[in-house]
Amino acid sequence: MSISNILTNRAYSAYEARLRKEVLASPLPNHIAIIMDGNRRYAEERGETREEGHRLGSEKLEEVLDWCVEDGVKFLTVYAFSTENFNREKGEVEYLMDLLRQSLIKFAESPRVHDKKVRLKVLGDVTMLPEHVREAADYADEKTKDYSDYHFNMAIAYGGRQEIIAAVKTVAQKVADGEMDVEDIDENVLSEHMYTSDTPDPDLVLRTSGEVRISNFLLWQLAYSELYFTDVYWPGFRYIDFLRAVRTYQQRGRRYGK
Ligand code: FPP
Repeated sequence: MSISNILTNRAYSAYEARLRKEVLASPLPNHIAIIMDGNRRYAEERGETREEGHRLGSEKLEEVLDWCVEDGVKFLTVYAFSTENFNREKGEVEYLMDLLRQSLIKFAESPRVHDKKVRLKVLGDVTMLPEHVREAADYADEKTKDYSDYHFNMAIAYGGRQEIIAAVKTVAQKVADGEMDVEDIDENVLSEHMYTSDTPDPDLVLRTSGEVRISNFLLWQLAYSELYFTDVYWPGFRYIDFLRAVRTYQQRGRRYGK
């Protein structure tokens, strides 16, 4: 490594340490939700395959869960596979499904997850998933079901509108069965019928890769969330970027007197 690289790295570490100190001195978001975007563009820029981009993306997710647990962010929800993602090329979908299965098993068996008591859950229409991914989701659920110190939700086969439709159908059925009156339907009732029924709404929703869209993610839940968009591609997302997102959330909170 060149002298200038060493100096740049040192300056970066010092900046990161200062930023971390500043961020940890104020209240953190209780729930961070992330749209992990830009795996393929990251890989393409480096002349790598898209599969390599996704693999690096899954490694990044392990790091980000670590940052949350280390710094005390209680809930992390990530958009790992949307219902629209099923329209991608067959080979890519198969690769992603395999990666998801491996990731779920790896998280479920990670000493860190057990040490920190992280509850792992899959949110989404699991009936759309291949058997081997469903089994991995059940395995992760079973292995972490007694934990509640931290919560890590992976949205897989997830669509916000689909989630709302499913909730409305369940509530409508309860009305049809005489278990509930139409007048009883309010925000709390619908929230209780979402995949996230036992999760507080996200305080901060973050998207990587420069796209400024929500793409059908947590539509119901993000009504009051702060939104943060960053240009970095997901596999290139650094701890500094994470800290900057949290700092922006904190600054906005102060500005609006929350
Ligand atoms: C976004 O990049 C990524 C996805 C749609 C797929 C899945 C997410 C990961 C692999 C991250 C971690 C998840 C796992 C498997 C544990 P993109 O493919 O849309 O890339 P692009 O925006 O550059 O086209």
